[in-house]
Amino acid sequence: MVTRAETDHLIFGGADVVELAERYGTPLYITDERSIRTNFRNYKTAFQSVDHAIYFAVKANGNLAILRILAAEGAGADVFSGGELHLVRSAGIPLHKVLFNGNSKSEEELKEAVELKVQVSVDSLDELRTLSEVAGEVGKEAEIAIRVNPDVSPNVNPKIATGLRTSKFGIPYSEILATYEEAAKLPGIAIKGIHCHIGSQILDVGVYREATEKMMGLVKGLYDRGIELEFVDLGGGLGISYQKEKERAPTPKDLAEAILPVFKTTTKSQGITPKLIVEPGRSIVGPASILVSKINAVKKAFKHFVAIDAGFNLLIRPVMYDAYHEVVVANKLEAPASELYTVVGPICESGDIIAKDRMLPEVKRGDLVAILDVGAYGFSMSSQYNGRPRCAELLVCDGAVDVIRSRERVEDLIRNQVIPERLR
Ligand code: LLP
Repeated sequence: MVTRAETDHLIFGGADVVELAERYGTPLYITDERSIRTNFRNYKTAFQSVDHAIYFAVKANGNLAILRILAAEGAGADVFSGGELHLVRSAGIPLHKVLFNGNSKSEEELKEAVELKVQVSVDSLDELRTLSEVAGEVGKEAEIAIRVNPDVSPNVNPKIATGLRTSKFGIPYSEILATYEEAAKLPGIAIKGIHCHIGSQILDVGVYREATEKMMGLVKGLYDRGIELEFVDLGGGLGISYQKEKERAPTPKDLAEAILPVFKTTTKSQGITPKLIVEPGRSIVGPASILVSKINAVKKAFKHFVAIDAGFNLLIRPVMYDAYHEVVVANKLEAPASELYTVVGPICESGDIIAKDRMLPEVKRGDLVAILDVGAYGFSMSSQYNGRPRCAELLVCDGAVDVIRSRERVEDLIRNQVIPERLR
């Protein structure tokens, strides 16, 4: 991020954010293509010493243009629903590089996966048995991995820790070997891999070493029972630095240094060569987007409130996880931070707070704020709550600008709604 001295405007992806807001309106998500490509390439470089694949977690950002960029970079995808599968198909991510995850897949979703030969991460014994039946009906093999609950604690917000013993995800660690033995006997099931995902926004990569040790212990146990795997998928979760001065985010290289020694030791000692898969979402797209929002009112009350036109309808992370996102004033970037403000959205709920107690330059109605690091779980978790059409999204690259999602209109609020004849 840089500023242009003469105007004091925020420049993002080579484009003047204030000009973009004037031209396309607010609120506005803006994504920098270069940042996505760089973040993805850092993963490729970090894992280049082993046969690997990087499956982008589509839940973080399902925009087709962004998926298209990742497809061109060679990404596969972690999908969590038939809808996300549709997104990756539309973006041209090859289906042999897709893993269908999820703890509650419908029979239709399982059927579609088997028909398309998309590999499925099985989350329960119940699902394994259903999948065997589905394979019989479809007349094709179901290629599977089993989602392991490795019982490790990643030290993150409990809402985004997924590998704890108490979590709803995966099959308990102690039951994994028996589940694979059952899978090996079931008709229509082809065992391909093993999978885990321990949590999100992980800043201490030590926990990956622990998870990898547990997973590779299982790989060895399976090998001893005559079950060989084509891939080991260790999930995503690498954190990013939302509070620049407080948090140092680990890099893909740090992640690789935690995982690879353990991975390589086991594969070498067993004489096996499974592919290593990782499923990053946030660390690829998180830092690549900003949300630009206009100030509608400034008010001195219990606090000095700044009311902007984007709330938890467009960015739910602060409300849902007490997440911190840095806020800057996009048209006064270099002005001294002189006031303590609380930045709130337009939603009719007291909890609609985007940023609490932040020192910012003095602002007034009409000024623009940019909320940083919103590329992951930002737009993808948005809603139309309070009758607010979703905003537009732009892609910028070295100053060139493309609209990658048009702004919804009020008509979109009533699309698919029906007033029954008798009420007309
Ligand atoms: N693989 C699986 C199976 C997952 O469940 C997830 C995220 C990922 C990969 C990608 O994790 P990442 O690299 O993005 O951390 N909405 C929350 C995050 C939920 C994460 C859910 N699973 C947030 O805004 O912090």
